[in-house]
Amino acid sequence: MIVVTGGAGYIGSHVVRALRTEGADVLVVDDLRTGYRESIGDARLLEVELAAAVVDWSSVEAVYHFAASTSVEESVRRPDYYRQNCFEDPKNFLEPAIQAGVKIIFSSTAAVYGEPERIPIREDDAKHPVNPYGENKLALENFLLASGSPCTVLRYFNAAGGAEDHRPETHLIPLLISSEGLFSVFGNDYPTEDGTCIRDYVHIDDLARAHLSALRVDGVFNLGSGNGYSVLEILTLAGREPRFEPRRAGDPARLIADIGRAHEILNWQPELGVDAMIESAREWRARNPNGYRG
Ligand code: UFG
Repeated sequence: MIVVTGGAGYIGSHVVRALRTEGADVLVVDDLRTGYRESIGDARLLEVELAAAVVDWSSVEAVYHFAASTSVEESVRRPDYYRQNCFEDPKNFLEPAIQAGVKIIFSSTAAVYGEPERIPIREDDAKHPVNPYGENKLALENFLLASGSPCTVLRYFNAAGGAEDHRPETHLIPLLISSEGLFSVFGNDYPTEDGTCIRDYVHIDDLARAHLSALRVDGVFNLGSGNGYSVLEILTLAGREPRFEPRRAGDPARLIADIGRAHEILNWQPELGVDAMIESAREWRARNPNGYRG
């Protein structure tokens, strides 16, 4: 059996469906605080908070740990909440899994790097997170890597495309495809070519595929595309016009992954570009105008 915490969330649910397609026996642990029962297909659901979840680890091959809040901006406003659900609760939940020698695949983030020292960012580069989200993800990485149990850390850059339904939505691509009028761009005074932040967007289907390879290989891996797009470039691709607003707290200027290690060791390479991300996000919204709660 494979346990997936946060399996009803955005990235988790895409991985759950990919695992089910491979025939895996999947147990989702999710309190549906931000996830959707409709997103997990026919996988089993244990609907409980991570802090209260109990699993018989003797029959578990691997655990994917996704469950956590994921907003950089919110983490700046609510650091204690992020300490609890990005670090304390998962640590307590995973400790017995570690004792039982269960393989752990942990959803980490580019936010662990903070303002990077060089671009593209390599896994061993300095980590100085600039927000509580990144700090707590890094603390859990360090705990897991020091535990001695089989472990894979996946540092996502900007996942996009497919079925995405955050409430409130804060992410660029889903907002771009579901709003009208001038689009609020947070900051045009960053030290980048056009003054807006640069990110490395990776298609959710490519990302989900990497998780299947991660089952068989331990280590720390960046998962991005290796290409950077500014916020203005993404607006142009989506056919939207900007209205410039002040910077959003906690946003680094530029994040681009070096994905050489994932290519070499996980034998993984992204196949879909930003156009495909915008297109698949649009398709899903067109079919589900009210998201999962349609
Ligand atoms: N942006 C806007 N206007 C919006 C929404 C976003 O200008 O309405 C900008 C942001 O300021 C940022 C870029 O678009 O420069 C991307 O923002 P997202 O919110 O889509 O993504 P983030 O880069 O903030 O967050 C992602 C992941 C986090 C992760 C972080 C690492 O969603 O989980 O990368 O920095 F922590």
